[in-house]
Amino acid sequence: MAEQTLTNLTREEQRFEPPADLAEHANVKEEAYARANADRAAFWAEAAERLDWGREWDQVLDWSNPPFAKWFVGGTLNASVNCVDRHVAAGNGGRVALHWVGEPDADTRSITYAQLKAEVSRAANALTALGVRKGDRVAIYMPMIPEAVVAMLACARLGAPHTVVFGGFSADALASRIIDCGARVVITADGGYRRGAPSALKPAVDEAVEKTGEMVRNVVVVRRTGQDVAWYPTEEGGRDVWWHDVVDGASADHTPEMHDSEHPLYVMYTSGTTGKPKGILHTTGGYLVGTSFTHWEVFDLKPQTDVYWCTADVGWVTGHSYMVYGPLANGATQVMYEGTPEKGRWWKIVQDYRVTILYTAPTAIRTFMKQGREIPDGFDLSSLRLLGSVGEPINPAAYVWYHEVIGGSRCPIVDTWWQTETGQIMISHLPGVTAGKPGSAMKALPGVVVDVVDDDARPVAQGNSGYLVLREPWPAMLRTLWGDDERFKETYWSRWEGLYFAGDGAKLDEDGDLWLLGRVDDVMNVSGHRLSTAEIESALVSHPAVAEAAVVGAADPTTGQAVCAFVILRDRATPAEGGVGGADLGEELRRHVAKEIGPIAKPRQVMVVPELPKTRSGKILRRLLKDVAEHREVGDVTTLADSTVMDLIKSASPSSKEE
Ligand code: PRX
Repeated sequence: MAEQTLTNLTREEQRFEPPADLAEHANVKEEAYARANADRAAFWAEAAERLDWGREWDQVLDWSNPPFAKWFVGGTLNASVNCVDRHVAAGNGGRVALHWVGEPDADTRSITYAQLKAEVSRAANALTALGVRKGDRVAIYMPMIPEAVVAMLACARLGAPHTVVFGGFSADALASRIIDCGARVVITADGGYRRGAPSALKPAVDEAVEKTGEMVRNVVVVRRTGQDVAWYPTEEGGRDVWWHDVVDGASADHTPEMHDSEHPLYVMYTSGTTGKPKGILHTTGGYLVGTSFTHWEVFDLKPQTDVYWCTADVGWVTGHSYMVYGPLANGATQVMYEGTPEKGRWWKIVQDYRVTILYTAPTAIRTFMKQGREIPDGFDLSSLRLLGSVGEPINPAAYVWYHEVIGGSRCPIVDTWWQTETGQIMISHLPGVTAGKPGSAMKALPGVVVDVVDDDARPVAQGNSGYLVLREPWPAMLRTLWGDDERFKETYWSRWEGLYFAGDGAKLDEDGDLWLLGRVDDVMNVSGHRLSTAEIESALVSHPAVAEAAVVGAADPTTGQAVCAFVILRDRATPAEGGVGGADLGEELRRHVAKEIGPIAKPRQVMVVPELPKTRSGKILRRLLKDVAEHREVGDVTTLADSTVMDLIKSASPSSKEE
């Protein structure tokens, strides 16, 4: 038996079988696994047939120069035609593409595919008039408004790769991305609404553009909030134009060019182990095949009847693959919501729009758990038929709560593992096939080959843990890092010959199902035992008093590393209301972890804190917690969604709570 490289002792016995009706009518059934195994190229070619091509490909995959893949070689297509025009041509122009819900209550718009086609065409004509040509890069820095989707599709239509930068990022972050990919045009808005108030975007663009010298020719600004903005008119040698001035009057006819399958579609920046963000490059054909097929497969989309809602921001890869390209290529009707998960608002949207498929992140689910089930219980969620999770391992307690409280115990949950780099979902339940286990992402999808290996790249035996790798290329895989082929090879392909290393640890259980254990860099080594932060966090949040938890390994003179836990309590679990609290709580939670996982995992220290330091995408910044746990000056907090959080944590974590 291969050496066990990680320790994972979590046990979960529950199973959730697919509903019979869903299983019977599922888009993808069990036979797909065997079919894909027998001939992977043929399997992906069949998936590609679901799209409209200008010219059919000559070769499904060219893997003659790894790790540089080419998919659907020789084929041509246009992503925006596939996402919009073809649905209109098929007679579905009257179908709603986007039910947009603004943060201010009465602010809603429903946009049909025909209207979307007209708007994308106008925007493509407007960008052309501004001098945007095929191959030029366009940066998009926008709130969650329909124009963000229109802008992306207009760029795709022209073959001008977009780079969408999350609207919560700073001017510096925006500038570095504009510079790295050499964007000529920036599309933005005056501002967006966040937590009830207008929040400006344009000033950050102005500041960023100043830092980029002469690079940016034009800034196109959508008027969203109506707030005052500084203005640099083109007539006076400036660069600013209003979206409504250039787009509204443009022609709604635009003849699209068919682009090569490998033509760059977009660059998405993501953080790596070094400070410099990596520009993940996705190209057209393979990406659209991978995202549209998996969206149809994993969410079992029935475009005529489903109302799909992915809660991710358009500034992240989930917004790209599973709000824009995948669902629109499939002709889905979807909800797009501008705001944040305030109490009750999401459930009102589900109720009002009769949402059938909801795709969100465990961090949101745990926030709702903290608020208490009486909030969602006050709404009619009976339209839901399928739930999805993405972004981090979903701990069994959150999975079960999501299943029971949101899904009314009737909706399967698909736990989808993938990355900015993979572009498409790689590991997930198939909702009509898989009996789900809370906490496990289950198996690689048909056509995807994953493995869990040890330090020497040997596959681990069932029951053991190791490193998650991908053995075979897949259509939506990143093609390189923008402008840095060497870093691409080094980051993902250098650890073991011929294997893509995802950076995650995983356990293969006795049934051969996969449990994601978090990033390997979030793995601790305590007395020679490797422990996953995610596993201990999961144990902590399975305690009724705990809403959220983050665990770090802090240097320890005796054991190498020691487990330090930071926990947020549930609203109701205050000592005053009879819940556990105070000094006893720390001890109780330590015992709870020891009971759930084993004495080795017992935290040295449990700190009750009011908030956790999160990036704007909801990822916990453990390195900052590590600084606190190791009594260091807290490091760089610029990527925090709320930079005051660390002060709250420091004041809430007196050393008296240490054991
Ligand atoms: O560690 C894994 C975790 O998120 C990482 C990818 O992050 P990002 O590129 O920001 O993309 C997030 C959206 C796809 C992975 O390496 N991750 C993502 N989904 C899951 C997950 N971990 C466990 N289970 C998941 N379902």
